[in-house]
Amino acid sequence: MPKDILKVVLIGDGGVGKTSLRNQFIHKRFTNAYKATIGADFITKEVQKDDNTKVMLQLWDTAGQERFQSLGVAYYRGADACILVYDVNNYSSFQHLGRWREDFLKQSSLPEDEAKHFPFLMVGNKIDIDDRVVSRRQARAWAEQNSSDRMRIPCFEASAKDGTNVEEAFTYIAKMIKVPQ
Ligand code: GTP
Ligand code: MG
Repeated sequence: MPKDILKVVLIGDGGVGKTSLRNQFIHKRFTNAYKATIGADFITKEVQKDDNTKVMLQLWDTAGQERFQSLGVAYYRGADACILVYDVNNYSSFQHLGRWREDFLKQSSLPEDEAKHFPFLMVGNKIDIDDRVVSRRQARAWAEQNSSDRMRIPCFEASAKDGTNVEEAFTYIAKMIKVPQ
């Protein structure tokens, strides 16, 4: 794959808002209806990586619901970065991040030295709902524990519904990916 196409995979529990985040970023649209993703698919969008570089982000949306997950893992391979999504109003979706991350690293068959410094970004979604059970501090602590000396995991809190931090999170992950010149 030419390196001006950057493959980014969204993972996390069913219903946390992976599809909604991507829809908000690509189409600036949101729907309250929930239709669980089956398998995985991608949409590509051009983003500004830095002042003079544009890149194509190939955004893979995957299934979070367990019964559909096995159809999705094959799509982890060749990823340049990964977005770990949880719902700030759902504690178990936050607790499962570690499993998602490990599973991703295993399935993507990265060499060990690359796996250690692989770019992950966290998004705590649905902050428009006033029922938060995962604090910013907890999210930051988890990110710190799972960061390496060379690759820090940034934490975003977002709303796919009103668009808060959606553009910011996707643009940030494009900047995190090292592209050979
Ligand atoms: P799977 O495809 O099953 O893995 O789920 P998903 O992570 O793609 O979740 P999806 O985007 O389908 O959203 C699930 C439900 O949460 C839908 O009813 C959405 O409307 C709702 N939702 C998603 N993001 C937000 C948000 O930021 N705020 C609010 N209030 N609801 C949201
Ligand atoms: Mg989905």
